[in-house]
Amino acid sequence: MKSRQETANKVLLETGGVLVPSSNDARIISGQGTVSLEFLDQVPQLDTLIVPISGGGLISGVAIGAKSINPAIRVLAAEPKGADDAAQSKACGRIITLSETNTIADGLLASLGDQTWPIVRDFVDDIITVDDKDIIQAMKYCFKILKVAVEPSGAIGLAAVLSDKFKNNPAWKDARNIGIVLSGGNVDLGRYARGLEESNGKSNGRHEH
Ligand SMILES: Cc1ncc(COP(=O)(O)O)c(C=O)c1O
Repeated sequence: MKSRQETANKVLLETGGVLVPSSNDARIISGQGTVSLEFLDQVPQLDTLIVPISGGGLISGVAIGAKSINPAIRVLAAEPKGADDAAQSKACGRIITLSETNTIADGLLASLGDQTWPIVRDFVDDIITVDDKDIIQAMKYCFKILKVAVEPSGAIGLAAVLSDKFKNNPAWKDARNIGIVLSGGNVDLGRYARGLEESNGKSNGRHEH
C-alpha cells in the first residue's frame, strides 16, 4: 500500500497527472451510490444488500445511497477470511491494517481509509467473512446459473449469502429480497478455468472417499 502510494506520488510529480483514488474519496463514494439507485429503482422491495469490501468505497456509496432511500434496508459487507481487516476494524472500533493477507480474492486486499471507515462503522450493519473455497463455489454458481464469469473478489457476496453464517443468523431470518453486488469479471481465463477445475477435483475426491 505504501509503495503504491509512493509510486503514484512520483508519477503525479513527473506527469502532472491527477490521482483518482479507488475508494477513499467522497467523489468515488458518491459515484458508487448509483449502484443503490439502480437496485432500488428496479427492485424497490429489496430488504438486504450484500457488497464486497476492500477499501470500502463501493459499500460506502451503496450504504449511503440505499439508506437514504430506505433507512430500514440492511447493508452487509462480504470480506475474505484471509484479509479480514474491515471485520476486525468493526470489532475493535478503529481502523485495523493487516501486515499479511492470504486469499484468492486479490481485489480485496486494501484497507479502510479515513473517509470510508466512519461510513462503514456507522452504516454497514455487519461484515460476513468467507473462506476461499466458498468463493470458488460461488464463482461456479455464477457461471452455471448466470453464465457469467465473475472474479473471486466479485463473487464473494454470493458466497456470503450461501454461507451458514448468513443463513443461521437469527437477526437476518427475515431477509427475503436480497441484492448481491457481483462487482467484477477481471479474471485471467487460464487461471479461472484451472481454479474451477481444481475445485471440481477436490470436491469429487471428497465424494469418493
Ligand atoms: C472486483 C472488486 N469488487 C469490489 C471491490 C471493493 O471495492 P472497495 O475498495 O471500494 O471496497 C474491489 C476493489 O478493488 C474489486 O476489485
